[in-house]
Amino acid sequence: MKALVGKTAFVTGAASGIGSGIATVLAQAGVKVMLCDIEERALTKAVADLKMTNADVDGVKADVSLKGELQAAADATVARYGKVHILVNNAGIGGGGSYGRWTDASWNWTIGVNLMSVVWGVEIFGPLIEAHGEGGHIVSTASIAGLIPGSGPAYDVTKYGVVALSEGLRVALAPRGIGVAVLCPGFIRTQIMNSRRNVPQRFGTIEEPPTEGPRAEFVKMVEERVSKGIDPLFVGELVREGIEQDWSYIFTDNEFEPLIDERFAAINQGFDRIRGRKPWR
Ligand SMILES: NC(=O)c1ccc[n+]([C@@H]2O[C@H](COP(=O)([O-])OP(=O)(O)OC[C@H]3O[C@@H](n4cnc5c(N)ncnc54)[C@H](O)[C@@H]3O)[C@@H](O)[C@H]2O)c1
Repeated sequence: MKALVGKTAFVTGAASGIGSGIATVLAQAGVKVMLCDIEERALTKAVADLKMTNADVDGVKADVSLKGELQAAADATVARYGKVHILVNNAGIGGGGSYGRWTDASWNWTIGVNLMSVVWGVEIFGPLIEAHGEGGHIVSTASIAGLIPGSGPAYDVTKYGVVALSEGLRVALAPRGIGVAVLCPGFIRTQIMNSRRNVPQRFGTIEEPPTEGPRAEFVKMVEERVSKGIDPLFVGELVREGIEQDWSYIFTDNEFEPLIDERFAAINQGFDRIRGRKPWR
């Protein structure tokens, strides 16, 4: 999508971090942006701050892990701006627990916010983008954890899911004039390590991460890396460029490229082991 000026974007998780960075950069590029988030106060502030820059933006509160609320947010966006061209499925949470500590509540929360919201986002906004015939773009925020595991089972599963969904939809939606990209950030300076601030009550109690042992050390390391992470505005700039140039994968840095190479090497090794065998007799 080359010409962004005058187009409309709907961005989830836009009150903080990466979503805020994307919303800001798109607004600066002349895109009308509907910011969507579950955290009302942060959302109101984010919208007010952007309006001070003369951007054409508005906000809508929604818990994206509820399909009905996402649908209502889409309706509000159409009522406000008429058309939607760009969907950014970005809202997400860190957590889900590790082996031995996960619970149904932590799985349900992680799958609901990180994965089902993306499925529903596509389902609800895809036809809206198609309807006006001007083309559009869908960007979904996965993670490097969508390509290599290590952030915790539930988080990894949802992020692999977002990558899989995006790769498949890129092929399926191209003939319909919709570009599809998946954003796979490394460590970004956001509030992700404080995701529990936004647990919808219906999921039940989400346990705090452990304070001792290897998992606690891991969480401390991630907290440290996130606190010194990449500026979300830099990520926003990459997303804008990715939309304009129709990139399929939007990465933020090369830190984890060697680990992804290792994963591909292990997969290739699996194929090498059975090369030459005859499975069909
Ligand atoms: N920060 C990183 O290092 C990093 C790395 C890789 C991927 N990501 C992904 O980036 C995305 C954005 O996270 P972030 O790092 O900016 O964290 P963040 O906590 O700063 O922002 C996430 C936003 O999503 C909102 N949100 C949470 N639950 C919601 C719900 N149910 N409905 C609507 N909005 C909800 C929050 O209120 C918040 O504004 C997530 O999908 C996350 O998994 C982050």
